[in-house]
Amino acid sequence: MSPAESRLECPLLPGLTLRNPLMTASGTYGAGLEGDQFGDVARLGALVTKTVTPHPRAGNPPPRIHETSGGMLNSIGLENPGVDAFLENDLARALELGPPIFLNVAGESHEEFASVVERVQGSGAAALEVNLSCPNVQGGALPFATDAKACEKLIADLVGISELPLFVKLTPNVTRITEIAQAAEAGGAQGLTLINTLLGLAVDWRRREARIGLGMAGYSGPAIKPVALRCIYQVRLVTQLPILGVGGVSSAEDVLEFLVAGASAVQMGTASFRNPLAALQVLEDLEDLLREDGSTVRGITGTMRLPGQAGTM
Ligand code: SIN
Repeated sequence: MSPAESRLECPLLPGLTLRNPLMTASGTYGAGLEGDQFGDVARLGALVTKTVTPHPRAGNPPPRIHETSGGMLNSIGLENPGVDAFLENDLARALELGPPIFLNVAGESHEEFASVVERVQGSGAAALEVNLSCPNVQGGALPFATDAKACEKLIADLVGISELPLFVKLTPNVTRITEIAQAAEAGGAQGLTLINTLLGLAVDWRRREARIGLGMAGYSGPAIKPVALRCIYQVRLVTQLPILGVGGVSSAEDVLEFLVAGASAVQMGTASFRNPLAALQVLEDLEDLLREDGSTVRGITGTMRLPGQAGTM
């Protein structure tokens, strides 16, 4: 292995080491197939697919996206072709791209989560990202990412039926994200993804209307980066699970901030809408910064300290 490859190497779990910490964020890069028309996505550490559910979903009424200063709102409503069509059409081709695939799954009930997790076993995915936290389904009312007991029970059941490692994607729209993270760990999760979008609202005051069809929506982009860093840092203090950091990352400096705060790998999302090559470009810069700093991805993760370890809430 070359010094550059060794600097970027990113061990997540026994048997799951990424060649570098750059991942795509679910819902922002399809299954990687379109991105591959622009650049060599094989160079990325991993691809995370758009959420799939047991049955096809048409998604929410338009408008579904609104750009704001500092980010964007989305309310897609987990539109997807359903797990069977996804496995047959998209996943089969995504696996040929090269990077490990993290298959993002969700449901509207305990039973739906169990059914989709069962269906994707043996699919060739490297891991599952369990999306407990979509704010755009049932108005964000599903309890799994906001109620510690419901989270632990669901994850324990899913772990019982999954041979694939489960990374649990949590919402920042809670009072204490540490409690939900600990519940996921108690349920047997092998990793966490922090954070999903913040619940937001954009208003067209002239029309006296919300700018998104269903009203409220998930806010992502550079503005949420400090919230993501805060959540990662807090959770790092209470769990040993590897954390996939996500929220407003658009540069190699951002990636290093996430690693130092406690992420083991970093997902890029909204930035890819502006520039489908964003993650690949950041990867080049990341290698340069690590070399200049004399550090490695492995060595830098979780190295930030606050005076007195402040930050546990
Ligand atoms: C959506 O499909 O509405 C967004 C998915 C998510 O935020 O988890």
